[in-house]
Amino acid sequence: MTSVLSITDLHVSVGETPILQGVHLDITSGEIHALMGPNGSGKSTLAYALAGHPLYQITGGQATLDGDDLLAMDANERARRGVFLAFQYPVTIPGVKVADFLRHAVSNIRNPERKEGEGLIPMREFRKELRDQMDELGLDPEFARRYLNDGFSGGEKKRMEILQLAMLKPRFALLDETDSGLDSDAVRVVSEGLSRLAGPETGVLIITHHERLLEFNQPHFTHVMLAGRIVETGDAALAHDLHANGYATVRERHPEVAALEETQDAQPTQATS
Ligand SMILES: Nc1ncnc2c1ncn2[C@@H]1O[C@H](COP(=O)(O)OP(=O)(O)OP(=O)(O)O)[C@@H](O)[C@H]1O
Ligand SMILES: [Mg+2]
Repeated sequence: MTSVLSITDLHVSVGETPILQGVHLDITSGEIHALMGPNGSGKSTLAYALAGHPLYQITGGQATLDGDDLLAMDANERARRGVFLAFQYPVTIPGVKVADFLRHAVSNIRNPERKEGEGLIPMREFRKELRDQMDELGLDPEFARRYLNDGFSGGEKKRMEILQLAMLKPRFALLDETDSGLDSDAVRVVSEGLSRLAGPETGVLIITHHERLLEFNQPHFTHVMLAGRIVETGDAALAHDLHANGYATVRERHPEVAALEETQDAQPTQATS
């Protein structure tokens, strides 16, 4: 079934500060989109707002999932409907083991009507699937017994995000710099993992400053964000050009937005990243 995540004129503020100022973006299953843009342009803000992070207030516009109001759903419901966000800074959950977390998450997604305490996917079936996926991602099986992200290195956290993706098989995967801080072997593992997942059933939004992830997962569309707006959309060649030449020419092509970028930077904001 074709699925569409549609974002129309989205405005998002953090506290009093407007960050996103009218974002339009449609992602259909089967498509890979790259979202690029300078630091602080609002890429993570878009991902957080779509995932339902409470700090990111929607002040205007819409986002729909197959016509249903995504923004009216709580974060759990969004996840159950297949919207998955891999964080730029994955959270640590001491006390919750990777295997338990994944078994619950997978059960919730596959059986959305499930009540707490019942309907978990059978242990034997789950274990096998988990072992196979960890094997593919080159993750030591020992990780399944560790607390989620607790004491994981940067690269291990990112592989854990891809493991979640592989287990949950979401309809829409929003990957916020899943490649940052990875050594080159790990980028390859993560890239290949992602390309196995990005089939006709899945829509992918890759937020990245690097080219490696996109080499394996050629974007059908590349979007450039500047000062909280998507100012240009192109194909894979645009991503390549931005990597090679930076954002100076984008700013030259959009002087009026680039000017806003400076005024926004002058405001006192506190970065999460
Ligand atoms: N939780 C927050 N509190 C205060 N300001 C925030 C918060 N989240 C985002 N901002 C501000 O919003 C702007 C956009 O930040 P965002 O993290 O979305 O940028 P980004 O495009 O993801 O940048 P990067 O490439 O560095 O990850 C920045 O000015 C940032 O300081
Ligand atoms: Mg970011």
